[in-house]
Amino acid sequence: MNKKKILTGLQPTGTIHIGNYIGAIKQMVKYQDEFDSYIFVADLHAITVPQDPKTLSSKVKSLLALYLACGIDPNKNTIFIQSENEYHANISWLLECNTYYGELSRMTQFKDKSLKNINFTSGLLTYPVLMASDILAYDINYVPVGGDQKQHVELARDIAERFNKKYGLTFTIPEPLIPEEGAKIMDLIDPTKKMSKSSENQKGVINLLDDKETIRKKIMGATTDSDMTIKYDKENKPGISNLINIYKVFTNKTTEEIEQEFKGSNYGEFKKEVAEVVINEITKIQEKYNQILNSDEIDKVLNKGIEKSRQEAKEKYELMKKRMGFGR
Ligand code: TYM
Repeated sequence: MNKKKILTGLQPTGTIHIGNYIGAIKQMVKYQDEFDSYIFVADLHAITVPQDPKTLSSKVKSLLALYLACGIDPNKNTIFIQSENEYHANISWLLECNTYYGELSRMTQFKDKSLKNINFTSGLLTYPVLMASDILAYDINYVPVGGDQKQHVELARDIAERFNKKYGLTFTIPEPLIPEEGAKIMDLIDPTKKMSKSSENQKGVINLLDDKETIRKKIMGATTDSDMTIKYDKENKPGISNLINIYKVFTNKTTEEIEQEFKGSNYGEFKKEVAEVVINEITKIQEKYNQILNSDEIDKVLNKGIEKSRQEAKEKYELMKKRMGFGR
């Protein structure tokens, strides 16, 4: 029997943080033995907001090196750059013409981002359709993402179901795969907000390429509360609950085990341990990252990945065109 398929993508916008790592990459590493896995760099999504042409390609390369350094195995994953596969944008157009403006304008991320800048591009509106294309092109079953992308995967489902109904069975219906603990890693300074690349205060964001001391300082400076007990309570103790979640993901311990372990400890002692486990894992990633970045491994992996992804996406695109009645 064929293995089920998973796929995810990350935008190459600067360095990625532990929220991205936990929400997407760590899940892909966890499932890569079980599923036929696809991971790509979503550089076409990145240009929905302005990008500097001078640095875009180095950001793409850096993200690819991070994928490999985090444990994405090139023998188990099809790894590619979205913009090198023209079928994603081609499929996207066909899907856009089967998606309603109302659906797109209701997307939470679009509403948030378009409110921040009234001069937004139409790409920011149609972005979830391109994401649907990334997924539907490969008959993906599961999409490992953080909670913020759930709505976009649900839209991909709606578009696929609509297309199948209208033109005949063409797409597999995908499901989001959201990690229990790390669905939403929160900002360390404002733990009621998700950790985000675009956060104004970078003290609340732990980047995978931050050095040890920076990580330690950020965690030691995390906002907590005045209650002094290490107990999971998202409503009343969002800062401590977020640190417990981070500690959980990096140690595989349960909340109960952690609460027991730190019974009687103060916040400073707990934070020190959180910093230790995070630094330990990230340092290993950084060592591999530096080796990979300076080797020809990335090119080799991409050459293999792009061939397979183009072949599969082309077949899906041709099938869609046939179903829709294109041709001479
Ligand atoms: P992006 O680049 O914004 O984020 C990459 C991944 O990180 C997750 N994430 C988080 N998870 C937990 N806590 C957080 N604080 C946090 N912040 C971000 C995101 O949910 C995401 O999984 N549209 C996507 C990229 C994309 C894609 C796709 C994903 C394009 N096509 C097809 C899956 C399938 C995005 O902008 O992710």
